[in-house]
Amino acid sequence: MKVLLLGSGGREHALAWKLAQSPKLTTLYASPGNPGIAQHAECISLSNDKLVSFCKTADIDLVIVGPEQPLVDGVADLLTAAKIPVFGCSQKAARLEGSKAFMKDMLNAAKVPTAFYGRFTDIEKATAFIHKNGAPIVVKTDGLAAGKGVIICETIEEAITAASDMLSGESFGTAGNEIVIEEFLEGPEISYFALCDGKTVLPLTSAQDHKRAYDGDKGPNTGGMGTYSPAPILTPALEQEIIEKHLNPTLKTMADMGCPFTGVLFAGLMLTKDGPKMLEYNIRFGDPECQSLMLRMESDLLDILDKAAHKKLDEVGKVQWSKKPAITVVMAAKGYPASYQKGSEIKNLEAIKEAIIFHAGTKEENGKILANGGRVLNICATGTTLAEARECVYDAIEQIDWPEGFYRSDIGWQALKLPASPVKTGAL
Ligand code: AMP
Ligand code: GLY
Repeated sequence: MKVLLLGSGGREHALAWKLAQSPKLTTLYASPGNPGIAQHAECISLSNDKLVSFCKTADIDLVIVGPEQPLVDGVADLLTAAKIPVFGCSQKAARLEGSKAFMKDMLNAAKVPTAFYGRFTDIEKATAFIHKNGAPIVVKTDGLAAGKGVIICETIEEAITAASDMLSGESFGTAGNEIVIEEFLEGPEISYFALCDGKTVLPLTSAQDHKRAYDGDKGPNTGGMGTYSPAPILTPALEQEIIEKHLNPTLKTMADMGCPFTGVLFAGLMLTKDGPKMLEYNIRFGDPECQSLMLRMESDLLDILDKAAHKKLDEVGKVQWSKKPAITVVMAAKGYPASYQKGSEIKNLEAIKEAIIFHAGTKEENGKILANGGRVLNICATGTTLAEARECVYDAIEQIDWPEGFYRSDIGWQALKLPASPVKTGAL
């Protein structure tokens, strides 16, 4: 198969690495790709108006879309209209990530357990809802706000200010034209992934992200500073509950609403004392969750994604996973997620043998690897235990010569502190 992968981050490097292992692959192209992806793919830079003609000329059998933005912009619709098979959801289905109000209404229609909520465009009505329900309470922008549009409010006054600042456009521009106000939930969070072809859910596995920039879950929120998979907190019973009560009804309702979902469902759930509740959906693999997932996947990724694109996921059976846990630690440029310098040289990467390195934000110049983004490298490994995988990753990081970078030294802390037997839902 000739495959085109869209994207340029660590997630796409992990996908390219895994796709390259498929016996079905003949040629892999990536647009725009990065120096790591270039180890597995021919990197080209395609604008949307060149995409279809390139796919036709190069005889592409499948396009795989990594990030959400092209999906939100309608790239899957463009390709589908040209009869080019694509793994990724339609623009209409992408509202699952792009609009919290749409997502909550869909969950409601599907009877998926989630926080009680209201949607508002009017501050008077929002204020009345806040007074009626009390604090703590959560105020969210409807639209995407670079991961910052969720405010957990401890008091009624704080909630009214947050709602008012969002609705006036002051805090988040048009993303706050409409807001969702919802019940505050408590409990540990997990990410669960599944592939969908519009009618069939193919469960993948779980992962745990670390959102804050610094050790001890301190500092600003980021896109994710490290992951491990699986999340030991997810028991088989809990997993079954998520598939039956959350994912299956979601897929059915999306189809009933006229926007069947094909692609990756990335579910963010809170494990409350009343059972798992859906916080949010993303329409793509998480980054850096994907990196840990790909290290554990034993099935042929290309075969599965191709089946999803052709609505044949029911033929796949079960996805096979290594029993060995995987861990990913992000190395970021100092200053990230605020302002940071680009262009510093990263040395000694070639010396790393025991860990796998995915490039997230690098560029190559005169044979040198330079930092070219906020999150720059992902250092990944599997091990007989998570502790072993973790040691391997941190040993590798010690050898990387990049004084301008930083990383969290406590990735995996929750899992490593857990008792050996899995935690039961009731005990959470
Ligand atoms: P979201 O983008 O909706 O996933 O929200 C980002 C983060 O805000 C989540 O990962 C949670 O930590 C927190 N959060 C969102 N909604 C709630 C809620 N209803 N109750 C408590 N925390 C929440
Ligand atoms: N790591 C979180 C995300 O990809 O949204």
